[in-house]
Amino acid sequence: MKSFITGNEFSLSEACEIFTLAKQFKNFRSDRSIQPLNGESWGLLFFKNSTRTRISFEVGINELGGYPVVVDGNSTQLSRGETIEDTARVLSRYLNGLVIRTFCHEDLEIFANFGKMPIVNALTDFLHPCQVYADIFTLVERWRSYANDWISPLEGKKVTFLGDTACNMANSWILAANQFGMKISLGGPRDFKPKIKIQNLLKDNGFSPHAYHHTEDPKEAVADADVIYTDVWVSMGEEKDRENRLRIMQPYSVTPDLMKLAKPKALFMHCLPAHCGEEVDLGVLESSASIVFDQAENRLHAQKAILHALTQKSKNMD
Ligand code: CP
Ligand code: NVA
Repeated sequence: MKSFITGNEFSLSEACEIFTLAKQFKNFRSDRSIQPLNGESWGLLFFKNSTRTRISFEVGINELGGYPVVVDGNSTQLSRGETIEDTARVLSRYLNGLVIRTFCHEDLEIFANFGKMPIVNALTDFLHPCQVYADIFTLVERWRSYANDWISPLEGKKVTFLGDTACNMANSWILAANQFGMKISLGGPRDFKPKIKIQNLLKDNGFSPHAYHHTEDPKEAVADADVIYTDVWVSMGEEKDRENRLRIMQPYSVTPDLMKLAKPKALFMHCLPAHCGEEVDLGVLESSASIVFDQAENRLHAQKAILHALTQKSKNMD
């Protein structure tokens, strides 16, 4: 069964097919002729809060002809000690696929190893691949000069990620930038440099483990950037470190002055939810450079295309 856990599961040409289909889903939303999940039931197992991911998957599964079974992870026997191994085997007797948002990334790998259905990573502490696929799609929508040219507009472009440069979004961007031929620059405090785990993932994918630039100087990080990206400074599960993070990440807040150091047509991106006054200035979030709501909308279209690709792949592998 094909799963989507790190975001490296598709080749570049498969990613192009995903983006092409996502664009078709977006342009012809009311056309429901593509129904790869017809008659299927897909679980949405969430151990963390969510607005965009949960609802876009629920709507998307429905639009693809499937039935979304939304489950609060804490209401299952998992929270009373049932193992993931047993849960995965039981759920695959009912479901055709499972979308999971949880803390520990390795838990998803256990689900994938023990379940007999595709597993989709809806965010772990380590990675958020569905978000970064929607982000890449959003950028190419803006930059491409002709239809279905999904890769060349990205090549050589510089993405700067500011703030918590060790978080799931930063990690997913480090991997994606390498996959899609972009330059990735990170500006964040010393204690939040990318960790060994993302370096190992880069290595496993044939990239140098240091295929990114990290600096503690926010001005250096954003110089000549095509995109400035940020995320909350206190990710879900990190609340106990809130005061420290707010203090040491302050220099990396995306302000109009910092935006001015990027390229003149630089775009501002954020996976949302945003905390204005912390990682981003309200003026930047609301500026014409900001494409945050396109990113949010594109979660729906990109995820539908990912689900389509997974089901096609899985059928071919049977
Ligand atoms: N960006 C994102 O994943 O948002 P939610 O936490 O609302 O799902
Ligand atoms: N880094 C954030 C992303 C939220 C979509 C978190 O994990 O809370």
